[in-house]
Amino acid sequence: MKNVVVTGGSGKAGFAVVNDLLEHGYEVLSVDVVPPREPLCPHLTADLTDLGQTFEILHGADAVVHLAAIPAPGIRPEGETFRNNTMSTYNVFSAALSLGLQRVVWASSETTLGLPFDREKPSYAPIDEEHPLYPESSYALSKVISEEMARQLNRTGGIPFVGLRFSNIMEPHDYERFAGFQDDPHKRKWNLWGYVDARDVAQSCRLGLETSISGAEVFIIAAADTVMNRPSRSLMQEVYPGVPVREVEEFGTLLSINKARRLLGYDPRYSWRDQVSVRP
Ligand SMILES: NC(=O)c1ccc[n+]([C@@H]2O[C@H](COP(=O)([O-])OP(=O)(O)OC[C@H]3O[C@@H](n4cnc5c(N)ncnc54)[C@H](O)[C@@H]3O)[C@@H](O)[C@H]2O)c1
Repeated sequence: MKNVVVTGGSGKAGFAVVNDLLEHGYEVLSVDVVPPREPLCPHLTADLTDLGQTFEILHGADAVVHLAAIPAPGIRPEGETFRNNTMSTYNVFSAALSLGLQRVVWASSETTLGLPFDREKPSYAPIDEEHPLYPESSYALSKVISEEMARQLNRTGGIPFVGLRFSNIMEPHDYERFAGFQDDPHKRKWNLWGYVDARDVAQSCRLGLETSISGAEVFIIAAADTVMNRPSRSLMQEVYPGVPVREVEEFGTLLSINKARRLLGYDPRYSWRDQVSVRP
């Protein structure tokens, strides 16, 4: 699988993923509705909500890393986020099947798990892939529906679908904001104080292309630690009293990455703790 199309190649994750794949010897075509930040590889401007354009851009590829989306609730109207994200994902998945691509790696989201946990508290922590899905926005719903599309298309078409439920993606400059999270544990309670470095997102996408998987799997992809300089267990006790806390390291992630470690060989290499200092 050397020829890979990266959709959303002009975005935050896309930039890191394109960089990483090029460094690892892949031939990459970046596709997006907007131009790339830097011309790292060939780029095509296309709207993936259009099935014809999607077929053309995937023609001849071995695999696709599908990252294109409106990347959060509250950016565009709810219905438009749903339309853009589910339509473009259906088009990418179904064109990949029809054109005989070998694999689809794609961006799902931590939001499927019930963020911001106002209505449903987490059933337990660290949350893992067995946790019930509680989409609270059309954005999260589009990702839940896309996970189901992947399962059904894997059943009928047989190619592997690797869904990556990314936590909140950070680029190096974002770590400057982390000092401001520390005074109030409620500021980042909405995603159980999770995050993931864009370069580790890139690692997970590459592993998604390379690891032997045959079904439609989903993996939570987060950093190994939380954004907080306070033990994870004590954060849970203060903010989510009564929620069972399973085994977790002192500052360990409350979004379990055990399945990704076990099946993908994912091993996050970046922590905000190595990049900025915050008083204890
Ligand atoms: N940013 C996060 O914290 C986060 C967390 C979890 C999951 N995700 C998911 O990861 C993926 C990448 O997110 P990101 O942070 O890089 O977002 P981003 O907005 O930086 O990049 C997404 C790109 O997709 C493009 N795009 C959107 N609709 C398109 C369409 N119809 N056709 C072609 N291109 C289109 C946009 O122009 C943009 O460049 C998304 O699927 C997002 O839902 C992001």
